[in-house]
Amino acid sequence: MSKTILVTGGAGFIGANFVLAWVNQQLGTVINLDKLTYAGNLANLESLKHSAQHVFVRGDIGDQHLVAHLLAEHKPCAVVNFAAESHVDRSIHGPEDFIQTNVVGTFHLLESVRAYWSTLNAADKADFRFLHVSTDEVYGSLTKDAPAFTETTPYAPNSPYSASKAASDHLVRAYHHTYGLPTLTTNCSNNYGPYHFPEKLIPLVIHHALAGKPLPVYGNGLQVRDWLYVEDHCAAIRRVLEAGQVGEVYNIGGWNEKTNIDIVRTLCHMLDEKQPRTDGKSYAEQITYVADRPGHDQRYAIDAGKLSKKLGWKPAETFETGIEKTVNWYLSHQDWVSNITSGDYRNWLQTHYAERGEELA
Ligand code: NAD
Ligand code: TYD
Repeated sequence: MSKTILVTGGAGFIGANFVLAWVNQQLGTVINLDKLTYAGNLANLESLKHSAQHVFVRGDIGDQHLVAHLLAEHKPCAVVNFAAESHVDRSIHGPEDFIQTNVVGTFHLLESVRAYWSTLNAADKADFRFLHVSTDEVYGSLTKDAPAFTETTPYAPNSPYSASKAASDHLVRAYHHTYGLPTLTTNCSNNYGPYHFPEKLIPLVIHHALAGKPLPVYGNGLQVRDWLYVEDHCAAIRRVLEAGQVGEVYNIGGWNEKTNIDIVRTLCHMLDEKQPRTDGKSYAEQITYVADRPGHDQRYAIDAGKLSKKLGWKPAETFETGIEKTVNWYLSHQDWVSNITSGDYRNWLQTHYAERGEELA
């Protein structure tokens, strides 16, 4: 079998970082299947334009005919499934796309992969892996002092997004248990880093700060997220792919719990240093408390002890080094952000805040 892998959703934030690292580290060829929804951006993969190790295919993971064709043609030794609708606020406004891609799409993908896998010879069958990229949000919300999520924490998803991801995780589990498909599932905490779509907290705050717009903090801003630099997430996925026990789940996290307001203030202070406002005031003056997200999860925290003990993974970045790299990347890629904000994203943002009776213009 070839060293080729099929990556889905590889034009999005984490998928693009994964594809770039895979090709740049010369680990093999990537067939990158992406529907190019609002979140898919080929500019993320610009540096691979002339690489023979990257084959981009525009398409839907739910298109069984297309996926069967790609699998038969390229004979990958693994499928890494990043493709998803990923934004909680969008899932509140319109859950249907989340059910279609995250649940129905993953089901169709599993069917295509199972059919392909069943045609492989015994050795290739044993070597094959289907790695499903999931989230810590499937475990629900923690109280302030509760222990972090482990792989055995019961599922308790609270948003249409996390419910759809939970459903996909269950399907992956069932395809291993019932059909023997060699699956791996990873549940990761909040990522940040280059190519992060500017609807999510960290890139949105950087973009709004520089554009002189309000920095919207939901509710009291005391919700807690556990942040991991995206390249550390990608390294963890590679490690699980290489050495993970088939059928198992691995939690991935950075041991970096922060309140949202801490994140926003940190970004403001960094920007005050690196690109001060012309009026000499702090970007923190732009912080605006807005209506809370319905059903807002209070706290996520990941215990990544299994991954670190069994597979020897640990993050390379601390929050301080990762956020420094991230802010520097956004400051030197403002054209990347403005290309996005001139499109579909902008219309969606306006609808979202107009419904809250708030003006973010
Ligand atoms: P993203 O929204 O930035 O990218 C998703 C990509 O999937 C886009 O390129 C989009 O075009 C593509 N896509 C969407 N529907 C598709 C379909 N039906 N067929 C093919 N391609 C499709 O998401 P992300 O933040 O990069 O997240 C990637 C994965 O990681 C998701 O499964 C998400 O649930 C998971 N995850 C994300 C985070 C995070 O903090 N961003 C944390 C943990 C897990
Ligand atoms: P987000 O980046 O959307 O990720 P997730 O909802 O998957 O954790 O949001 C991170 C946190 O920041 C979450 O608690 C919601 C909050 N938030 C704001 O306070 N303001 C914003 O404008 C956004 C987008 C998020």
